[in-house]
Amino acid sequence: MDRELKRRRDKPSARKVVRIPAGKKSVVLGVTGSIAAYKSAELASLLVKQGHEVFVVMTQDATEFISPLTLQTLSKNPVTTSFYDEKENWRPGHIDLADRANLLLIAPATAHVIAELAHGLAGHPLAAIALATRAPILLAPAMNGKMWQHHATQENVEKLKARGVEFIGPEEGMLACGYEGLGRLWKVNDIAFRAEFLLSRHDKLIA
Ligand SMILES: Cc1cc2nc3c(=O)[nH]c(=O)nc-3n(C[C@H](O)[C@H](O)[C@H](O)COP(=O)(O)O)c2cc1C
Repeated sequence: MDRELKRRRDKPSARKVVRIPAGKKSVVLGVTGSIAAYKSAELASLLVKQGHEVFVVMTQDATEFISPLTLQTLSKNPVTTSFYDEKENWRPGHIDLADRANLLLIAPATAHVIAELAHGLAGHPLAAIALATRAPILLAPAMNGKMWQHHATQENVEKLKARGVEFIGPEEGMLACGYEGLGRLWKVNDIAFRAEFLLSRHDKLIA
């Protein structure tokens, strides 16, 4: 080996990235009332396969698009759909989830939930968790292209980005509403990959 390289490698102060094994992390997976809600089933499955505890929290509208039973089975945990599901212990379940989350991922995220988060509303467990958690938040929007491009939505997105909320997508393509454009949910595999990155980001130490 080149002597200079060897000297640098053996130097005690040499900086290197030490990766601490990610281990089991808690992901709160928020699902909202978009036609893309069925894709959250695959996402829940992928996150479980990635070795994480997945807690699904659905809006009431989301339950019109996919059954809580499907997501409960795939996530292997109870699904929260209402504040009044929370009867297990003295501590409100949404606060418990907010505290235990290592990541809050909302996929798909409707225009409505994006607006609620931007305005700090807390009318249902998912919005309340977004306010109460200090975990990173990743939103994967899905909606009609005109809804996405509307100033109101874009202002809400900018507001959230300024607070550190991350976005993945939407992508361009054929939309369920019959239009073609920007508004499709990003590929589920890529969302899971991005989630993994955010989960492991805090585990990296520069030694
Ligand atoms: C068939 C159908 C598909 C919908 N798809 C979307 C969508 O992809 N994105 C969106 O923002 N809203 C969509 N909506 C409207 C939302 O369901 C509606 O704004 C709802 O209030 C969202 O509530 P939530 O954000 O609390 O889940 C759709 C509505 C219907 C009936």
